[in-house]
Amino acid sequence: MRLILLGPPGVGKGTQAQFLIDRFEAIQLSTGDLLRAAVREGTELGVSAKGYMDRGELVPDGVILGLIGEKMKELSGKAVIFDGFPRTVPQAEGLDKLMEELNLEVDKALELTIDDEIVVKRLGSRRSCPECGRVYNIMFAPPKDEGVCDDDGTKLILRDDDKEEVIRNRLRVYHDQTAPLSEYYSNVGKLLQVNGDGKVEEIKARVEEAL
Ligand code: AP5
Repeated sequence: MRLILLGPPGVGKGTQAQFLIDRFEAIQLSTGDLLRAAVREGTELGVSAKGYMDRGELVPDGVILGLIGEKMKELSGKAVIFDGFPRTVPQAEGLDKLMEELNLEVDKALELTIDDEIVVKRLGSRRSCPECGRVYNIMFAPPKDEGVCDDDGTKLILRDDDKEEVIRNRLRVYHDQTAPLSEYYSNVGKLLQVNGDGKVEEIKARVEEAL
């Protein structure tokens, strides 16, 4: 299974990806997580990506496609959940080309939909584990012990781009540059749409039904 998760920031792509990894014994490939790791490690990629991320803009397509190309070679033959990639039509075209070279195919693109104002509320209370990437929400899905990851005990962090003005810019960028991907995948009969508003378990059930 090679499944793309589409949808605006904060809709719950990372949260649902955690369930899908178990279901399909898949690897989650999140360009956001890869970029944040590069920023933390201070690599050349991280230094060049940080400004874009802090402003809520997209990192250039060429950089992202280079990153994914490397990872896909390592993951050839495994089930993959793409989380936060592709994010532009050129990225989707680049992924198709890469898949063809590897003799693989994207199976489905599953889009989670939601109202912008719910996103703004959710992201302000998100906390994430910098070690394993698990996502929590101090209002809706808190960890068992305040401030630390249930899985590995690491101190949870608030992302730099989860400030309201940056969230609103990420939403603008999403509507301008990423939303056209619904049509891209619909045109090839691969788009599934699921309402992302509701409790995490309800959305999990909707995703399972759609798949
Ligand atoms: P990225 O890390 O991909 O961020 P994003 O797409 O903006 O998505 P998020 O991680 O914010 O949200 P999510 O949908 O995964 O929601 P989550 O499950 O965490 O990208 C960050 C930046 O990196 C970009 O702005 C860009 O600069 C750069 N970048 C990344 N990929 C790129 C690419 N391909 N091209 C160019 N640039 C790229 O849930 C959010 C919160 O809500 C959590 O607290 C969660 O616990 C909670 N929650 C989830 N579901 C529910 C629910 N049903 N009810 C209540 N709360 C819920």
